[in-house]
Formats: sequence, C-alpha cells, structure tokens
Amino acid sequence: MRKRVFSGARPTGRQHLGNYLGALQNYVKLQDEYDCIYCIVDIHALTTVEDVSNIQNNIYEMTLDWLAAGIDPKRSITFVQSHVPEVMELHTLLSMVTPLSWLLRVPTFKEKAKLQPHNVNYGLVGYPVLMTADIVLYKAEAIPVGEDQLPHLELAREIVRRFNSLFGPTFPEPEAKLTSFPMVLGLDGKQKMSKSLDNHIEIALSPEETVKRVRTAVTDPARQYRTDPGNPGICNIHFLHGYFNQTEQQRYAMMCRKAEVGCVEHKNVLADEINKALAPFHERRAALATNPQYVKDVLADGAQRAQVVARETLVEVKKKMGLL
Ligand code: TRP
Repeated sequence: MRKRVFSGARPTGRQHLGNYLGALQNYVKLQDEYDCIYCIVDIHALTTVEDVSNIQNNIYEMTLDWLAAGIDPKRSITFVQSHVPEVMELHTLLSMVTPLSWLLRVPTFKEKAKLQPHNVNYGLVGYPVLMTADIVLYKAEAIPVGEDQLPHLELAREIVRRFNSLFGPTFPEPEAKLTSFPMVLGLDGKQKMSKSLDNHIEIALSPEETVKRVRTAVTDPARQYRTDPGNPGICNIHFLHGYFNQTEQQRYAMMCRKAEVGCVEHKNVLADEINKALAPFHERRAALATNPQYVKDVLADGAQRAQVVARETLVEVKKKMGLL
C-alpha cells in the first residue's frame, strides 16, 4: 500500500507565488507517489481570524487554485476540515493525554499570544493538538510542511508516542517532509511572501495585473539610476527570476552588474516568465470558474471519503480509551 500524505492549509483565499512555489507544486507532485489528503483547515483559522465573513469565499477561491494547479480529486482527497467533525472529537480525546506544559512552550503559541494579546484563546493553546488530530485521524505518515511547522510536528510525534504507550500501538509517528524550496520573499524583498503583509503576487492575476504588481517590487535600493551597476545578490527580482528560468536569471544578473539592463526592463522580463509559466494554470482556472458547483462537489465528495476513514479511527480510539 502507498504511504499516506496529509497536509493542511488555512483558508487564506487566492494563493500567491509563495504558496505555489513552496507548497502547492509539491502537493501536486506528491500525488504520483502517495495517497494524498489535503485539508483546508477552517477550524484552525478561527484561532486567529476575527472577521469570519470571508471564510466561505476564501475556501472557494483556494480550492479553485488547488484544482487548477493540478490537485486531482480522483487520486487525492481534498476537503474542508469542519466538514469532517470527527476531528473535533479526536481533538478532545487527544487533549486528555497532552500535558499543558508541552503546549505552553510551543514557540508559535508564544508568538501568537504576543501578536494578539487581546485574544489569547483556549483554541490557540490547543492548536497543535487539533493539528495532531488532523494527521492521526487518517494515520498519515508523511506531512509536507514548511520549516515553521516543525515544532508542531515534533509535538504531534510526542502526543502519538504518549498515546501509543498508554493505550497500545495505534498511530504511526508522522514525519515532516520538508520541501526543497527555500522561502519565497515578498515584493518588499525583506519578508516572507504573505497575503497579510500585502507583499504577494496572486497566481490568479491576469497577465497585465501581474506586470503591474511585479513593477512594485523593491530591487537593489542602492541602484538609483539606470546607469548605476546593480547588485543582484540583494535583489528580489533576481531571486524570483531563478524560480522560472535559471539561464536567463544568470544572464540578467551579469547585465545588471554592468548596468546593461534597467530594473523596469528586468521586471517586465520576469513578469513575462511568470505569465508564461502560469498560462496553463490560468486556462484551467478560467474553465473551472465557470462551474462553481463542481468545486463544491469536489469538496463534498472529499469530505465523504475522508469521513469513512475518520469514523473507523475514532471507533478504535474510543475502544482503546475505554469509551466503547
Ligand atoms: N498549522 C499549519 C499551518 O499553519 C496548517 C495545518 C493544520 C496542518 N493542520 C495540519 C499542516 C496538519 C500539516 C498537517 O501551515
């Protein structure tokens, strides 16, 4: 049997190049080798989201992007976390074997508590327990995540070990599968590309919009005039170029150092490369967008298939914990 992959992502809406290059392309590739389950974690989102009015639309736009990028609902399961409510039951059960001290020392908890001191909710402390429930409900073994999620995964492994030692072997220890892709910087050239920082490039943008957006990128700040030689080593356009065309990236770097190309021209070239790479994606997305019902059906079917596995696991867990 093929190993099972599980990954979750918050419903952030339209995906950006950082999501695409860092996670989404990897999700698509993993389908060739694994049984994949991809989950849009709307319950996790409630730990930080205060305005809930966008959640449904974000789920829809994100699913469109995932499907257009190549997530194949025939081979994989794509579903929304809250559509399989068994995860909340398992979360409660796992919380009984998770020492509070483990949760209070998770670095992301401390960060979030600092970021939203007015809303240090109970769910925020339990975030990694819910994430563990996501994973073990499907007995997933390989978890594609970014480096920022490693402390959560380590905790999941500790909870699994503790559960297995208390109640007998039940869950495999999930392993992180780090993507080889380095973090994609945002248009500010300083921070990780992210929607909340508004330094992102959505992959669903039209080619014209992409050109406009790329033009707002910060390049080498020391290069003021077209005649100044630039330093590609600190230029984000240079880095982004490498994700799409490494030969041209090197050629433009040489020209930049000799002031043979200006930043605006280089940005136009990069935007063209992005548009070329995303053309098939745009075509599929436009076709899918004509049929919103299909997107809803994919998620409903995914939830149904996930629930079959979830129910089975939950019965096993309840028996072991003396509840059945
Ligand atoms: N915490 C993850 C993130 O913010 C999302 C997530 C929730 C997840 N459940 C998961 C990732 C299970 C992997 C496996 O990116």
